[in-house]
Amino acid sequence: MNEPIKGRPAFPGSERVEPVDAPGLRTRQQARAAALARHPGHLRAAAKRRLPRAILDYLEGGSNDEVTLRANRTDLEALRLNQRVFEHAPSRNMRTTLFGQHATIPVALAPIGLAGVFYPRGEIHAARAAHAFGVPYCLSTLSSCAMEDVATASRTPFLFQLYMFKDRGVNANLMQRADQLRCPALVLTLDTCVQGRRNRDLDNGLVVPLKVRPRHVVRIATRLRWLVGFLRNRPTLGNLTAYAAGGSDLATVSAWADRHYKGAVTAADLEWVRQTWPRKLVVKGILDPEDAKLAVKLGADAIVVSNHGGRQLDGANTAARALPAIREAVGDGVELIYDGGIRSGLDVLKALGLGAQGCLIGRAHLYGLAAHGEAGVAAALKMMAQELDEGMALAGVADVNALPRGLVLKPV
Ligand SMILES: Cc1cc2nc3c(=O)[nH]c(=O)nc-3n(C[C@H](O)[C@H](O)[C@H](O)COP(=O)(O)O)c2cc1C
Repeated sequence: MNEPIKGRPAFPGSERVEPVDAPGLRTRQQARAAALARHPGHLRAAAKRRLPRAILDYLEGGSNDEVTLRANRTDLEALRLNQRVFEHAPSRNMRTTLFGQHATIPVALAPIGLAGVFYPRGEIHAARAAHAFGVPYCLSTLSSCAMEDVATASRTPFLFQLYMFKDRGVNANLMQRADQLRCPALVLTLDTCVQGRRNRDLDNGLVVPLKVRPRHVVRIATRLRWLVGFLRNRPTLGNLTAYAAGGSDLATVSAWADRHYKGAVTAADLEWVRQTWPRKLVVKGILDPEDAKLAVKLGADAIVVSNHGGRQLDGANTAARALPAIREAVGDGVELIYDGGIRSGLDVLKALGLGAQGCLIGRAHLYGLAAHGEAGVAAALKMMAQELDEGMALAGVADVNALPRGLVLKPV
């Protein structure tokens, strides 16, 4: 490992972490409200009512003209499922294994930076809901809560997503902390050599350094419930406070992250991560078959086929179009995860039909989180499972691990 960072403990995560008291989790009110949601649209509507406009934009927005953001949906919608009426599946199995972890349905929660702006200590709520439902949770490097706090509060191992910094000592230390928490897999994000130009965030002053103007504050102040939660649990970048000198508030730590962010992850970086990280290695953000083959050659165990939810290269391909060629290139032995635009269990079924083992869900769980915290994420997962089960019944699919040929019909 490289030199420790000056003035900081070599392993910030190795200090004893006190259990996080999580007031307000699992309130009956939240659970009741979430139970009233009958379909994903209800969770989005509730999130919209609770969040200030700028934060909803951060959740929903994409880069530039949002062409890829829209294509993530339209390409999935253009796929047709083959309806079989004599292939009855009276009982359906949705259980599978993703990243070596048991999954009740073939879904894992995608890494989300600053989920604490959607709900106080959002990552803890999402991780708990994922654990209770039995699906993997992936924590972002840029999470608002520190990984040690999420581990203590959720008491479940989660996947850790790594953004690389210029100083390998920082990267090694982040991996060491994740290793100490027994994170079963590391997810290395590859598609952010520069940050996508997110016009909505630019308009709202949500950029580094923060440029929040009086008109933004006025709009934010109209969402009182959100504001109170935000002020009581001001989010920061919890994993990075240990490295940033000069304060642990969001403005200071995000300015540090911006200055020290590495940018492009090279093949040599991937090899180094493979040598450093002891367990499963997942790469996220691949859309090209040659890139996929190289990632596997360099030691990736699984690939998330992803355009970062339409937030990076606008005009980039979608997982719906890219995944079949990647499957052909890497063969059946490599785990492929579909990412981008999944909103329902029927979308999950289509992704599996294209050759994926499972899906990451970003916004689909964020609507639930923003609306009702842990109970909202639980509601989102429950709906997705119901939709997947019904879709399997109607398409005559008995097992997510043994799909019939020709389940997905390509558009003519
Ligand atoms: C608000 C927001 C923050 C995100 N933060 C990260 C992040 O920190 N790391 C990462 O690898 N991907 C991040 N992503 C991308 C997601 O992991 C995932 O690829 C994307 O949300 C999938 O598209 P979907 O939201 O349509 O499901 C973020 C996405 C959103 C919407």
